[in-house]
Amino acid sequence: MSNYHIKHLEEYYQVYRKSVREPENFWEEVAEEHFMWRKKWNNVLSWDFSKPEIKWFEGAQLNVTENCIDRHLVTRGDKTAIIFEPNDPKENSEHITYKQLHERVCKFANVLKNEGIKKGDRVCIYLPMIPELAISVLACARIGAIHSVVFAGFSSTALSTRINDSDCKIVITSDGSYRGAKTIDLKTIVDEALESCDGVKSVLVVKRINSDIQMKDGRDKWLQPLLDNASADYEAEIMNAEDPLFILYTSGSTGKPKGMVHTTAGYMVYTAYTFKNVFQYKEDDVYWCTADIGWITGHSYIVYGPLANGATTVMFEGVPSYPDFGRFWEIVEKHKVNQFYTAPTAIRALAKQGLELVEKYDLSSLKVLGSVGEPINEEAWHWYNDNIGKKNSPIVDTWWQTETGGIMITPIPFVTPTKHTYATLPFIGIQPTLMDENRNELKGNQVDGGLCIKFPWPSMARTIWGNHQRYKDTYFSTYENKYFTGDGALRDEVGYYRITGRVDDVIIVSGHNLGTAPIEDAINEHPAVAESAIVGFPHEVKGNALYGYVILKDTGESRNHNNLRKEINQIITEHIGPIAKLDKIQFTKGLPKTRSGKIMRRILRKIACKDTSNLGDTSTLLNPEVVQDIIENVL
Ligand code: PRX
Repeated sequence: MSNYHIKHLEEYYQVYRKSVREPENFWEEVAEEHFMWRKKWNNVLSWDFSKPEIKWFEGAQLNVTENCIDRHLVTRGDKTAIIFEPNDPKENSEHITYKQLHERVCKFANVLKNEGIKKGDRVCIYLPMIPELAISVLACARIGAIHSVVFAGFSSTALSTRINDSDCKIVITSDGSYRGAKTIDLKTIVDEALESCDGVKSVLVVKRINSDIQMKDGRDKWLQPLLDNASADYEAEIMNAEDPLFILYTSGSTGKPKGMVHTTAGYMVYTAYTFKNVFQYKEDDVYWCTADIGWITGHSYIVYGPLANGATTVMFEGVPSYPDFGRFWEIVEKHKVNQFYTAPTAIRALAKQGLELVEKYDLSSLKVLGSVGEPINEEAWHWYNDNIGKKNSPIVDTWWQTETGGIMITPIPFVTPTKHTYATLPFIGIQPTLMDENRNELKGNQVDGGLCIKFPWPSMARTIWGNHQRYKDTYFSTYENKYFTGDGALRDEVGYYRITGRVDDVIIVSGHNLGTAPIEDAINEHPAVAESAIVGFPHEVKGNALYGYVILKDTGESRNHNNLRKEINQIITEHIGPIAKLDKIQFTKGLPKTRSGKIMRRILRKIACKDTSNLGDTSTLLNPEVVQDIIENVL
């Protein structure tokens, strides 16, 4: 029996039991047999959730890029590591072999070194989905610099907040990006962001759209000439198991975004192991995850997990709708994709287009279909299963988070019988539990509650950059000695888990995590706004959309509400990015508040969902009269 590759349900249960009973032995075996270490660990695991402090493979030394690239050179040197599929189907795709990847990463690593970047320094990467994004991530890992990739759809304000929070020394960007028929001036956004980032001394610019951009003397440099002059050798920096590998920001329900810190050895072991099993990857398969590397899905399952397994991973620059809604299926046919991993919001958008665009293409290469980022509703699940998988390719509904680093609850295809809307069983080594309102663990099946994890797993985030207390408060304080996910879930009669959604003030829109507080802060910047509250409401394609309740300042002037709505969304776009725009904005005289002044979002959520049948007791509110007024004017 191989612990590394699970092929039968019985084997799953057997390996799962071992991973729970003897977690240290189990992970030690996986780590020992399948990775390249410069020095082995002294201790597999030490942990204390009360501090919280988690250490895996302490004492070990390694470099992740030696595992993701160098060790494949002998056996897979000419194998394609990355297939780059550009935005425009008329432009050629690019096949980068492991040998070429090695050379390009080493050259990039030398460029970073020549820019004065050292082990431990933070590097901000703000790039579209072009090969340089994956290569710069790996170049950072090669020299031991900590990468902080910021999704290139975020605004300049969001970018500068992230650059400053982790004190990045350098920004890697491009002149611009292609997105369907549009281009976006990324460099201009970086220039704006850097007006408030004193710590950034240099900017490396990739030429992608050949636009005419401003280069600031002494700060900005075109990347290509630097690469041309760089050596193609770079001895990988030896890293300790618990050295940070990267920071990735995620929204919280309050305050500024949280810079989740992932470390080296445990993250590598877990993402590689999950990739192999969750996608049942075989040597010559072509794997495609449609996420952006700006999110955790791209970090773990476009870059690190696939490359650690010597896989061929597709990177797609464009969008599902350009030049038409058949683009995904065209790419599946073109590259004979075997595993396809996407988000429910994309599936819903594609399902709306009718089947002609699906039937035009040969999808017979597909073996496994994945879903991630939000609950996949029954209708979308069936559409995906019937029309894309032709009922032959199991759907893996993978539940996990930026904080968890890797997939946590998921079927293993051809192993776990799937059930629509259920993420099914915990992955090997994962010990989920559900908690009731009194903070007790719910035993047995057919229960629902707050989803926690009881025992550490190798790829969990170790802290929040610069704010360990917040890490403790957010994840380890709600329930004693447990990691709290912020999600609710139910466990059915056979022990399958179904994720029911966030139980905090985070709203998942099109699979993106959005905290209400930063959006409200942005809206409140509008000179006419006195106060605001955001809630989510169901949306056919996006899963959830945002509904804003806004109180205007009483100036005695009358204002055009439609203009105000546009201005508010403009401010949100500037502060966060277009993904956080509100679908509906209702102007109201008041917001329902408790006597201690807390906004009762539960009531606002129900009203936005047009479910006013059971609002509960509103008489204890400070201002019960506003509720009726809000109901009467709901959009
Ligand atoms: O609410 C859960 C939802 O997405 C949240 C995590 O978002 P993020 O950190 O951006 O990572 C997304 C990609 C891993 C979770 O707390 N979520 C993620 N996957 C699923 C899901 N909800 C239901 N089913 C899923 N498969």
